Amino acid sequence: MGTYLFGDADEPLDPKFDALSSLLDAGTFARVEQLGVADGWRCLEVGGGGGSVANWLADVVAPSGHVTVTDIDVTRLEERDNVTVLEHDVVSNILPGNAFDLVHARLVLFYLPAREVVLRKLRDSLRPGGWLVLEEFDCLPLEVLKAAPDDAKLIMRVKNALLTLLDQAGAELAWGARVERALLDAGLNDVSGSREVREWEGGSAGCRLLAATARLVRAKLPLTDDEFDRYLELLASPETVISSYAICSAQGRR
Ligand SMILES: C[S@@+](CC[C@H](N)C(=O)[O-])C[C@H]1O[C@@H](n2cnc3c(N)ncnc32)[C@H](O)[C@@H]1O
Repeated sequence: MGTYLFGDADEPLDPKFDALSSLLDAGTFARVEQLGVADGWRCLEVGGGGGSVANWLADVVAPSGHVTVTDIDVTRLEERDNVTVLEHDVVSNILPGNAFDLVHARLVLFYLPAREVVLRKLRDSLRPGGWLVLEEFDCLPLEVLKAAPDDAKLIMRVKNALLTLLDQAGAELAWGARVERALLDAGLNDVSGSREVREWEGGSAGCRLLAATARLVRAKLPLTDDEFDRYLELLASPETVISSYAICSAQGRR
């Protein structure tokens, strides 16, 4: 079934979710707004993490709409008048059929070996005409654009070690590159997608995300303490520039 590699952050404010929100929320909100989301929509936010998307959706669909937000770890999700928080494993637990106007999952199917089955499950939870929106990474494009040669080698070593761990845990490293095709194969209509590679400067949300995820698997990284400290220093320094993971999104309607 695969294991979610980046769980178990001890802090109440998981820095990974803060970085994801800074990095991705603006794009997510623009994408979902284009679909016409409005008062009255019934939405499912899968693997809602820190809750930033669910909370935004709850405001947009109020007063008569509703958001169900799920995760295997619901400690950072907030019940509100029009938000139901559900501790739920999207692989093994059931979802209601024909229920939602919008189903959104960001960086969740990436981790799940059963992603194709889950995609069909999400499709079936849509009412006819409802929208499925998936946002995923393709990790392969990450390269160092600016750093001293030894530092660049260190960043690439950590990239490769992290990707090996993700692969062993069942993630599909270039899932983002084929997510639009997967929506088409699942029989969705009006499918479209986008792919964006950015420059991430040290200290940016993207580099903070890399640092937060590396910290969560520190014990499994084949690095000395000095090397790990140097890696974190590089990710915090504006002198470092890397090309990001490709940020891929795809949408389609049932
Ligand atoms: C990288 S985080 C993304 C969080 C949020 N979607 C975002 O973009 O800010 C992945 C999330 O998926 C959740 N997750 C992992 N496996 C899951 C599963 N089988 N069912 C539901 N959620 C899962 C994790 O607990 C985590 O909150």
